[in-house]
Amino acid sequence: MSDIHQGMHIKTISTDDGREVNLRYPSWGDEEGMRDFINSVSAEDTFITFSGETVNPEDEHVYLTRMFSGMDEEDTILIIAVVKDQVVGSVSIERKTDGRRRSRHVSVFGISIRAEYRGIGLGEAMARTAIDEAGKRLPELKMITLSVYSLNERAHNLYVKLGFKEYGRLPGGVWYRDQYIDEILMYRELGSAY
Ligand SMILES: CC(C)(COP(=O)(O)OP(=O)(O)OC[C@H]1O[C@@H](n2cnc3c(N)ncnc32)[C@H](O)[C@@H]1OP(=O)(O)O)[C@@H](O)C(=O)NCCC(=O)NCCS
Repeated sequence: MSDIHQGMHIKTISTDDGREVNLRYPSWGDEEGMRDFINSVSAEDTFITFSGETVNPEDEHVYLTRMFSGMDEEDTILIIAVVKDQVVGSVSIERKTDGRRRSRHVSVFGISIRAEYRGIGLGEAMARTAIDEAGKRLPELKMITLSVYSLNERAHNLYVKLGFKEYGRLPGGVWYRDQYIDEILMYRELGSAY
């Protein structure tokens, strides 16, 4: 059983432009704030899987139920970035459990940040924090994988900076704003140096 408890504070960071952001685990009290956050990013039609769909309260409840259960089972890390009670970002690392014991050492990474908080060092700080937490709290985890859209230069640069390496590419694997673009697949050994 995990020793993560709901709402647990991890650290307070200062962004490049001097804003204070709390990084912590979510609690059920964040349900509405997290829904508002994901809907703001979805509405942008940016480089995440949501492209304008609205997440309703039931969807959010199902998502958070899955994430809390994953955290209890030591399979999941979900960290939110909070500024004065507003959720401004979220980052997750989820163990692959669909392959049973064959792929329990492999996980999938995801991150997004509200538009007003990008480009000020928050993504890097959140990603490093999630990787550190995964190393401490997800036993036997060895690898983090992710997929990034080929036009998402900012995220791609961040991942390269963090030591992720490309292991494949699905040409035309993503329908993005009226065109098919490549999906780039990347991985990083959990214990490797930055
Ligand atoms: C991708 C995302 C998480 C990056 O987080 P961020 O807070 O904006 O990035 P940071 O400010 O921490 O910058 C980290 C690195 O990213 C790269 N980067 C940041 N802004 C950039 C820009 N405008 N252009 C190109 N690269 C950029 C740089 O390598 C930067 O490191 P450096 O400052 O040492 O050069 C964030 O922009 C985001 O949520 N975007 C929308 C959703 C998304 O794309 N999610 C990822 C899906 S794979």
